[in-house]
Amino acid sequence: MSNKNTKSDTTEKIVSLSKRRGFIFQSSEIYGGLNGCYDYGPLGVELLRNIKESWWREMTYRENVEGIDSSILMHPRVWEASGHVEHFSDPMVDCKECKGRFRADQLDESDCGNKGFKGRKAVKCFEEGKFTEARNFNLMFKTHIGPLEESSSAVYLRPETAQGIYVNFNNVRESSRQKIPFGIAQIGKAFRNEINTKNFLFRTREFEQMEMQFFVNPEEDSKWFDYWKEQRYNWFINYGMDKDKIKFHEHEKLAHYAKAAVDIEFEFPFGWGEIEGIHNRTDFDLKRHTEFSGKKIEYFDDQTKERFTPFVIETSAGASRSFFAFLCNAYDEEEIKKENSDGSVSSETRTVLRFHPSLAPVKAGIFPLVNRDGMQDIAHSITDDLRKTFNVFYDDSGAVGRRYRRQDECGTPFCITVDSETLTDNSVTVRHRDSMEQERIQKDRLKEYLKSKTD
Ligand code: GAP
Repeated sequence: MSNKNTKSDTTEKIVSLSKRRGFIFQSSEIYGGLNGCYDYGPLGVELLRNIKESWWREMTYRENVEGIDSSILMHPRVWEASGHVEHFSDPMVDCKECKGRFRADQLDESDCGNKGFKGRKAVKCFEEGKFTEARNFNLMFKTHIGPLEESSSAVYLRPETAQGIYVNFNNVRESSRQKIPFGIAQIGKAFRNEINTKNFLFRTREFEQMEMQFFVNPEEDSKWFDYWKEQRYNWFINYGMDKDKIKFHEHEKLAHYAKAAVDIEFEFPFGWGEIEGIHNRTDFDLKRHTEFSGKKIEYFDDQTKERFTPFVIETSAGASRSFFAFLCNAYDEEEIKKENSDGSVSSETRTVLRFHPSLAPVKAGIFPLVNRDGMQDIAHSITDDLRKTFNVFYDDSGAVGRRYRRQDECGTPFCITVDSETLTDNSVTVRHRDSMEQERIQKDRLKEYLKSKTD
């Protein structure tokens, strides 16, 4: 029986659990934090790695997709060719009273600090004429390469990983001998100097993307667009996303280079938001890089003897935003019955993160039921053995019920307890996080058991 909270309660609870259990910390917290930047704690980094690893396996362990890892700093002409220097900006307005800066197209979502009126929507101050005219603010972070800070040494922190793929099209195709259709995938950091950061990990200034660019014959673009749309939706479902919480959102207004675009949206506690975009980018990017670099980026089909610039079907997911979506999707509270020491029964709220076992940061908690009769030694030896393959956690402190609760809050799918029966028949109990049911298993089968459940 799930106990549903109000939407803002849930966000606050997730933010607080993230800090308490070591998923997410504010960046540079001891200095007051840095807006729009976050650090992944011990559990967070495992969850993030598991998400990226599942994506990588899904997307690159295929005959027709290769992986790369391109540099964050790239030649500045890349961003002229891509259109980012000219177009990658948001309209910005300043409030003349509170001096706050806002995205002009999202005023109804932002709070204005005007007159110290907490929670006053910026759109109200706009209507009252308290704002400047909108001007364009480029979202790319600029820095300098080498010791001289002059315009000729200016470079940008990449705002997307996609361009590192386009500029390597010839290198990857030639070195891997791929034929069209084929794709190139990469996972990496991207940076955007967002005017207003928002909703915890949803819109940050530093984040990670998981992008794949699939190069196709222009005549087959629609077929591949539909194919990747379905593949990407299924990936989220296969890793435990609730079907009611994800949906497609078709774009009515397309970017100047796009022929089709659809978002996969997730229902966060604060509302629906994009977690991934699937785009038909036509031949825009490859043609622009050909034009700006003077190097031909084309494909020659030896069978049809056709030469053409491939179209690109892009799948672009945020790793950080998917992390947040998987965390929200997993979060649950339920009322359970608790037997007290005097035999009476009361109820308590159990907080549980119902991650898919492959994504869960810790795969198993291992406990001795009591700290005597050699149970600790057996539990330690199980832990040492499992740790060679899985991230597991040993715990011998407090009542077993409390140890279960602590693991439920981290999303650990299995808890293994060594008890008096173990001493006689080498079996242990395995308790399942979601159903809370228990089964007995021979301890020398544990590795194989966990492998079959978490792969
Ligand atoms: N190459 C295409 C591209 O970058 P995008 O829609 O701007 O497209 C793709 O970004 C994904 O990157 C989004 O769906 C989102 O998951 C993630 N993303 C974009 N901006 C972000 C931000 N400021 N903070 C966190 N994630 C972001």
